[in-house]
Amino acid sequence: MFLGLDCSTQSLSALIINAESGTIEHEESIRFQDELPQFNTTHGFVRGAEPDEFFSDPLMWLEALDLLFSRLRDNNIPLHKLRSISGSAQQHATIFIKETSQQAVRNLDPKRSLAEQLAPHFSRPVSPIWLDSSTGQECMEIAEAVGGNDHICAITGSSVTPRFSAAQIRKYAKQFPDRWAETEKIHLVSSYFNSILAGHRSPIDYGDGAGMNLMNLKRLQWDESIANAVVPGLIKKLPSLQASKNMAGLISPYFVEKYGVNEKAICLNWSGDNPCSLVGMGAARPGKWVMSLGTSFTVFCAIEDPLHDPLGFGHVFGNPIDNYMALTCFKNGALSCFALKEQLGIDWKEFDLQAQQAPSLNDEPAIPFFDTEITPRHEKVDQTDTTVRALLDGQFLNMKMHSEWMGKPPEAIYVTGGVSKSKGVCQTIANIFQVPVHHLENSSSASLGAALRAAHYCGYHLDDLEAKFCKPSGTTLPQTEIAPVYKALMKKFKKKLK
Ligand code: XUL
Repeated sequence: MFLGLDCSTQSLSALIINAESGTIEHEESIRFQDELPQFNTTHGFVRGAEPDEFFSDPLMWLEALDLLFSRLRDNNIPLHKLRSISGSAQQHATIFIKETSQQAVRNLDPKRSLAEQLAPHFSRPVSPIWLDSSTGQECMEIAEAVGGNDHICAITGSSVTPRFSAAQIRKYAKQFPDRWAETEKIHLVSSYFNSILAGHRSPIDYGDGAGMNLMNLKRLQWDESIANAVVPGLIKKLPSLQASKNMAGLISPYFVEKYGVNEKAICLNWSGDNPCSLVGMGAARPGKWVMSLGTSFTVFCAIEDPLHDPLGFGHVFGNPIDNYMALTCFKNGALSCFALKEQLGIDWKEFDLQAQQAPSLNDEPAIPFFDTEITPRHEKVDQTDTTVRALLDGQFLNMKMHSEWMGKPPEAIYVTGGVSKSKGVCQTIANIFQVPVHHLENSSSASLGAALRAAHYCGYHLDDLEAKFCKPSGTTLPQTEIAPVYKALMKKFKKKLK
């Protein structure tokens, strides 16, 4: 049995698989807002004093870890049978710890809680999370100091990005020099959890490390000159970097004694949620693209070489199985569909029916931004005359246009997330990209990805694991006769976007 954990924005989840029988044996989740109300969060985070500040309390994550394991134990889940454990965590969020933390993590007492024992060892009481975009000033300062955004994008795979760790670290060091001086190391959520499970300091993996704006993608090392531009001497405060497929150690005695975890269980390096989802969606090797159609729309795929988006909108992370992954995020996703549905006074059924109508050469794709957009950076656009057809065509033509940098076009697309339930949406994607679209409704792709990684480490073949755990529930084929229509509409769309 293999355990995949996932510390997301809203919850900490566990998913246990039996790799032999191809079954998910158990799923358990702690929702921070409901089950840890003492932290007063909305959906797992709190707002800061500035409008764009978003934080979570690392003690909440620790409380959740104890609660999750005690629930697994109390439900008689055979934790003594676990062979390997890995995890996935929201990307970019940073945890600042003091020098005393190492010792505390090594000597955890099973009679006391994690939060109680580790609370004195944080040098920052909160963690800025990926929703935080309060670092515009720091982004400008870093970009200027390293010789521009094009340069940092070519090296780290991303332009200086407000939610990424580098800008967040600079802001903290500037704001609180005393606390900065007390900081011995800066972890990501992934490497911090891994340290707790393994009972000693664990490295940051290439998958999540690439989301910091600090890692040289080709060399797979911290870039010292960028790190110095962020804060002089920063490199000493970064944990080491390592491949995701390395073992951090055996499980700490804390979990063996307290929860009955197998003392020989291997802790495999954790990674970010997007890298883990790539594995959980069965797309860890080049060829398949994944579109996650939730609040925002995200497209990602495995790539062999460390490409980067010359326009600076996309990101490149490490692929936990091999090489790299490319990702582009579009802010106007499901919320735009929802806003249009309201504006037209129709329900989802009608939305889907209208989405199934064929496009024609006379159509005008919308610039589909109900709100400001990040890919490309754009103001919101008036949508008074927008139809369902025009919105979806605009959204997916924009996605096609801005994902061309992600290497070879896809051979197949796997869709997931709320909006992917619409037949019309799947047909639109199949027609615009002219490839089959497979529907994979898998709300736990990150924790599943972590569990699959744990099984893969112990010798299970990826083909076998994908065949067992990543089966699509339906396929939409492209209509080849529509291809020329979308070629013409793409031209119109590009002209309109300029
Ligand atoms: C990716 C990103 C989010 C987080 C939270 O860059 O910010 O997907 O990983 O899930």
